[in-house]
Amino acid sequence: MKTETIQKTVAKYGNSREHLMLILRDLEMQSGKNVLDTDMLRTLAEVMNLPESGVAGFVGFYTMFKTKPRAKFIIRVCKSGPCHVMGSTTIFEALEKKLGVGVGEATKDGLFYVEKCECLGVCSVAPAMMINYNIHGNLTPQKISKLIDEYRKKKPSLHEQCGDEVEGRKCVIDEKKQTKRLLADIGEIDPLKIESYTASGGYNALKKALSMQPGQIIEIVKDSGLRGRGGAGFPAGMKWSFVAKGPMQKYVICNADEGEPGTFKDRILMEENPHLLIEGMAICGYAIDASIGYIYVRGEYRRSIERLQNAIEQARQKGMLGKNLLGTKFSFDIFIKEGGGAYVCGEETSLINSMEGKRGYPRFKPPFPGVAGFMNLPSNVNNVETLMSVPMIIEKGADWYKSAGPSNCAGTKLYCLSGKLNRTGLVELPMGTTLKEIINVYGKGMKKGSTFKFAQVGGSAGGVLGKDLMDLPLDIDQPMKKGVTLGSGVVLVCDQNTCAVDFLLQILSFFAHESCGQCVPCRVGTSQLHYLAKKFASRTAEISDIDLMVEKATLMKKASLCALGQSPIMPITTTLKYFRKEFEKHCDPSYKCAACDKSLRRYYTGEAH
Ligand code: FES
Repeated sequence: MKTETIQKTVAKYGNSREHLMLILRDLEMQSGKNVLDTDMLRTLAEVMNLPESGVAGFVGFYTMFKTKPRAKFIIRVCKSGPCHVMGSTTIFEALEKKLGVGVGEATKDGLFYVEKCECLGVCSVAPAMMINYNIHGNLTPQKISKLIDEYRKKKPSLHEQCGDEVEGRKCVIDEKKQTKRLLADIGEIDPLKIESYTASGGYNALKKALSMQPGQIIEIVKDSGLRGRGGAGFPAGMKWSFVAKGPMQKYVICNADEGEPGTFKDRILMEENPHLLIEGMAICGYAIDASIGYIYVRGEYRRSIERLQNAIEQARQKGMLGKNLLGTKFSFDIFIKEGGGAYVCGEETSLINSMEGKRGYPRFKPPFPGVAGFMNLPSNVNNVETLMSVPMIIEKGADWYKSAGPSNCAGTKLYCLSGKLNRTGLVELPMGTTLKEIINVYGKGMKKGSTFKFAQVGGSAGGVLGKDLMDLPLDIDQPMKKGVTLGSGVVLVCDQNTCAVDFLLQILSFFAHESCGQCVPCRVGTSQLHYLAKKFASRTAEISDIDLMVEKATLMKKASLCALGQSPIMPITTTLKYFRKEFEKHCDPSYKCAACDKSLRRYYTGEAH
């Protein structure tokens, strides 16, 4: 690529390291083969006055980038939990048959390149894949051939054109019994028009907030009992109050890096009601005295990015963002940052490093972001669902908010249903709804021919619940007492055809792939756990390897720097609680298991990249 082209691209975004992700994404598209070759990276480093190693290290860290030529169309097939359970291996096989290439290979005509990837955030229509930025769900081997033929006639584009079946509002379960708060306007308002949002009362909460004292707002949020919806469940108002005071620049950061396999709620919220997020962030900015907000959206969520950008521009035009909001002295603006395909960037300090144009390594805490966050300045990081809950709290009051859910975890929760249910999708229910109710009422029970075996709650970092815990309230605290976390609200239901060994292998391959490698316990531990899981799947394990997995994961929990390395213990112990016998059986070299014999070899063991 010509130096001039690189210079022009850098000039378009700005010559600061924090823009590296966008510059690289643009250059990758311009390459025509979705590649960032080493010569290009060297020139880019020179143009941006960055160390060559810094640019190369950045590219190597994010899985969406590659330094070897791919093709016009990159086919990313999701292999995470829900897609795996719903048959993603058959999609890999169908692609191989149609294209004559396997994972990590390009077709000779330079048109298609096949990759495996983790969750694309459309799990209710699993199995799914993404071709460049176009999402395709509800795939079957039969659909693959036709789809590929259609792409042969297409031009690559940065713009996402989701198939109808994966459009956000269509992934919301149509069931009147829900307690719709965050989902109330979805399907009612036009996410592309600010007028539609304001006509339904949008931005009234911001107006109200701007007439109050910032401290008052923090007290209301504290009083509402709103706890973070990203997984950790930390009280939101408390977090806001920890942001350092003083005249320095402060930031509101929205964590929209929804990478937990099985989660798709934030994608739907951003796609279908982007102004609600803008309003929530502006209120937070006013409360903590921040004048800039960033939304860090995962790179795979092209439609979310486009709709948020459109909403931000409209809000600026209408005076809801920018200088002197609604004629007050408060100024606040929002910008989007994109992720590059790294699960660890869901951790708030990794996310901040990524925003700064660095590898997404977690930072040591303290200091916490409230004191030293983005650019070492005070930053408040909240998840999409959390920030979107704020306008309704301001508008209707803390008592109203607390009228749903238990006293320890007030409000509603978005549960993401996937797997072997008659109905999958997003539902909003009072926090603490039981698994039984979720499956029977909202999921309409198990699919024909399927018998409940277990449900994975909380995603890969969560755990497994068996029949005995059907009545467990799925709030933030109760599952923890049973060794499981509700996390971001994943409910993946599995039937008799899911092999527990194969299921755990898939989770441990995920952690091994996603470990950032910064701390030794996680880097080495996740690889060792993956290796042990492969032993069971290939019938070469010994019975003692069962406890060895627990031992290693326990050590990782104690010694790892961030939640990623601390997480594998949960899926391991809860899976073993119910299915230890299955693991013992898999130690027998002659044991036959149709489920894992078929799927494990090529796509989960690391033999196919
Ligand atoms: Fe495949 Fe979420 S889209 S698991």
